[in-house]
Amino acid sequence: MRRKVIAGNWKMNMLPGDTINFIEGIIPLVKDTENEVILCVPYTDLFYAWHSLEGSNIHLGAQNMHWEESGAYTGEVSPNMLKSVGVEYVIIGHSERRAYFAETDETVNKKIKSALKNDLKPIVCVGETLEQRENGETEKIITTQVEKALKDITREEVKDIIIAYEPIWAIGTGKTATAEDANNSIKAIRSKVKELYGEATAEEIIIQYGGSVKASNSKELFDTSDIDGALVGGASLKTEEFANIVNYKK
Ligand code: PGA
Repeated sequence: MRRKVIAGNWKMNMLPGDTINFIEGIIPLVKDTENEVILCVPYTDLFYAWHSLEGSNIHLGAQNMHWEESGAYTGEVSPNMLKSVGVEYVIIGHSERRAYFAETDETVNKKIKSALKNDLKPIVCVGETLEQRENGETEKIITTQVEKALKDITREEVKDIIIAYEPIWAIGTGKTATAEDANNSIKAIRSKVKELYGEATAEEIIIQYGGSVKASNSKELFDTSDIDGALVGGASLKTEEFANIVNYKK
């Protein structure tokens, strides 16, 4: 049985003081969960979060990184910089980064390789637009994104990757894919992983759903055969709401 992994993506929200308060509040609420919990916070909160999370069962994640380890890249943050403040996971290729910051399948691939080389576990986002969905292209789009993201990544390395299927039309809109639709898209991604790496890897890899996940719809999503947890945006900013998602039991 694959574990459930629930990651909060705070996006560009929360100051250090809010971070410390949030973490103090959530630690006791999720301490008994069997699920894996990750908080992906803004760069400026990482140091505070790292210290506040010490001794808890919550893992720390970042939301982006550069693929180089150092150099003349004004404004960028490298994988080893993330490691230096306790980061274990890093979101790569979120649709907001692809849409507003010119991330491509090629930069996503470079970042994944660099993250793995630096012992960070990438949470790789893929997903279709509403137009692509309406044209019946969902499966083709998401499996192509997965194939390009994983180019030249070995079977051994891919085990450390989490894939997040996030239909773009469902992000921040209050529209969630039905559990059945989301599960079918995730099955298509799992088949692609099987084609690339074989059955054992496909059965093992964690594939999350993301897009307007809330406490009121998470159980239905998590009860499906193939959805292994969620990447949660808006609902991860509210302590009790996020704790209720994290504390899922079958
Ligand atoms: P949302 O965001 O839960 O606010 O829709 C999810 C995401 O963008 O990761």
